[in-house]
Amino acid sequence: MTAEARTAIPSVSEVPSAGPDFLADVIAGFSSNPRTLPSKYFYDERGATFFQKICELPEYYITRTEIDILDQNRADIASRLGPNIELIGLGTGAGTKTRILIEALESPAVYIPVDISEKQLRESTVLFQRIFPSLEILPVCADYLQPVVLPSPSRNVVRNIVYFPGSTIGNFEPSEATEFLRRVTNVCRPNGLPAVALAKAGGLLIGVDLKKDQHVLEAAYNDSAGVTAQFNLNLLVRVNRELGADFDLDQWRHRAIYNSAAGRIEMHLVSEIDHFVHVDEHKFHFRRGEKIITEFSYKYAPEEFAALSRKAGFEFVQMWTDDARLFGVFYFVVPM
Ligand code: AVJ
Repeated sequence: MTAEARTAIPSVSEVPSAGPDFLADVIAGFSSNPRTLPSKYFYDERGATFFQKICELPEYYITRTEIDILDQNRADIASRLGPNIELIGLGTGAGTKTRILIEALESPAVYIPVDISEKQLRESTVLFQRIFPSLEILPVCADYLQPVVLPSPSRNVVRNIVYFPGSTIGNFEPSEATEFLRRVTNVCRPNGLPAVALAKAGGLLIGVDLKKDQHVLEAAYNDSAGVTAQFNLNLLVRVNRELGADFDLDQWRHRAIYNSAAGRIEMHLVSEIDHFVHVDEHKFHFRRGEKIITEFSYKYAPEEFAALSRKAGFEFVQMWTDDARLFGVFYFVVPM
């Protein structure tokens, strides 16, 4: 992501779909040891629907807890962020949380949602234009892991605030998370101006899942209705459909375990039999019991996450949490 080159992008319909190289990523992931599939590929249309169902599961405390924290602290959060801000949402999906935030903000200048799911981006933009008629909305359909050109708002903004909800930061390895947040500090300094030229320093509002009892964590990723299993297996459905592979879905099962040494949930797809799978021109051998790692979801103690962000160049301001301290909404600023 870069804040330097900014050209106007009038509407989401004119933005080409994010085009990461799915085939190359799959081949590279299957050629590594252990095998992997990048978690960003969960979110095709079917996957985004499964994920919305996950967010409503009784075991998946993450989404409702983050929403409750926002709801209960909206006034406090809004006064921290201040008036006339440029709000840049990363992976904001259907926009449920962002809506709560924007409702609380004092005359926000512009909202720039950046999301990989084009359908959700389109739908949430239409919804937000209806409920916030005076807010300028400049959607960008993109993979925010890649450099993204952000559109320029037509109004003057006091500061840029990046909003990164949903604990998606947990999908990064801690070193990658630091690197990513370091790039986010540049987005917080708008229009390539040095921070001294701005009225106020920019900031980051970010949702982070906190460390907690292993059983609570594992239940959240092994729900009794089996939705997370469908969400995980959908990756193979997608490889079959989009790349013409021949995965037999009956030979794979979902597994999610907490790796306490690493501080992360690991999602795996496990082969039930010894067999071969074809992807494009390639043929891969999977042993019985062999896993494909599909997702890491790191959990942080509050002080761990504050330390990581400090390394990236942010200054910790405040964390809002729930009574059980399941989840944290952190606010950081870029020091002037
Ligand atoms: C979207 C990264 C927050 O790690 O909890 C939910 C995705 N994976 N169930 C998470 C997910 C399995 C999720 N994040």
